[in-house]
Amino acid sequence: MNHAQLRSTGSYLPERVMENAELEALVDTSDAWIRERTGIARRHIAAPEQTCADLAEQAALSAMAAAGLGPNDIDMLVVATSTPNQVFPSTACGLIERLNLRSGVIAFDVAAACSGFVYALDIANRFIQTGGAGRALVIGAEVFSRILDWSDRSTCVLFGDGAGAVIIESASEPGILSTHLHADGRQESLLNVPWGVSQGYEALEGGRGKVSMRGNEVFRVAVRTLGALVDETLAANNLKRGDVDWLVPHQANIRIMTATARQLGLPLERMVSTVENHGNTSAASIPLALDHAVRDGRIQRGELLLLEAFGAGFTWGSALIRY
Ligand code: ACO
Repeated sequence: MNHAQLRSTGSYLPERVMENAELEALVDTSDAWIRERTGIARRHIAAPEQTCADLAEQAALSAMAAAGLGPNDIDMLVVATSTPNQVFPSTACGLIERLNLRSGVIAFDVAAACSGFVYALDIANRFIQTGGAGRALVIGAEVFSRILDWSDRSTCVLFGDGAGAVIIESASEPGILSTHLHADGRQESLLNVPWGVSQGYEALEGGRGKVSMRGNEVFRVAVRTLGALVDETLAANNLKRGDVDWLVPHQANIRIMTATARQLGLPLERMVSTVENHGNTSAASIPLALDHAVRDGRIQRGELLLLEAFGAGFTWGSALIRY
């Protein structure tokens, strides 16, 4: 089997920043409540004409530039998103022309909500391990602002828009050491956007096509599940608490992230946190956080990174990476 290594990272955030104070004018909330319960102070919101593909394109270009690679160097493109441009073709297919990739590359989208990036990374890693691709661009991109009910204070304060990308490639030494994916749909109703092409499409105008979440119950499942996931990842790699250099968690809530860092035996300065400035950007949050910590010099080559996510489905997953 081949190995896959993480070659580069990239990201993009829409220009517009929405502070918590702006939300105070929309719903019965306060900056203090949002900060205390979630750690979020602001989030980026896509311009009305900006699509998921627009954000993904910029993140991809940033990862390609960081790697010094051109369009002909990419064999595979996977986009994790819950807010694609259209039903089909996939957002990934739409990016082929925008990025001027070769005709014939592998390209598809992955839907696993907030765990989407970890799912996409795992899939691309397996393609590289089995020789199906030599180099893959893996993107998480979301315009969650489009599926928020801006009159529901329990959800609209949580999310933001953005995109992150990584390039992984075949290498002689292992970079992606292990990946762990899981799902269980039994509690689907706790967190969903309850419409789709074959269910409730006509209700779209009625405002039902928006994120619905029983946050408190999701919170409890998330903390418990991520604790077990961290233990599973450490055990699979014969590691003990404290052995990981960086936790790069899905950025849903600072309290969930902190609980996971504690489970890992990591001091909080070893947890990459962008939730304060980005909010929850769903599938984009991990590659966005990763790119920020790589670019500001915190994450160094050779260090051990644990990426983990929990999201609607429920879905959850992790990746242990020697960067
Ligand atoms: N401002 C002020 N008050 C609020 C707000 C708000 N924005 N939202 C809710 N409240 C109120 C509630 O109505 C409730 O009031 P009550 O006590 O009078 O009934 C009170 O605050 C407490 O509400 P809880 O829901 O218990 O608050 P909690 O501390 O659990 O925080 C939160 C809510 C932030 C949503 C938290 O539960 C959370 O982060 N959940 C997990 C989210 C997550 O991880 N999702 C998975 C990934 S997302 C994806 O996959 C798409």
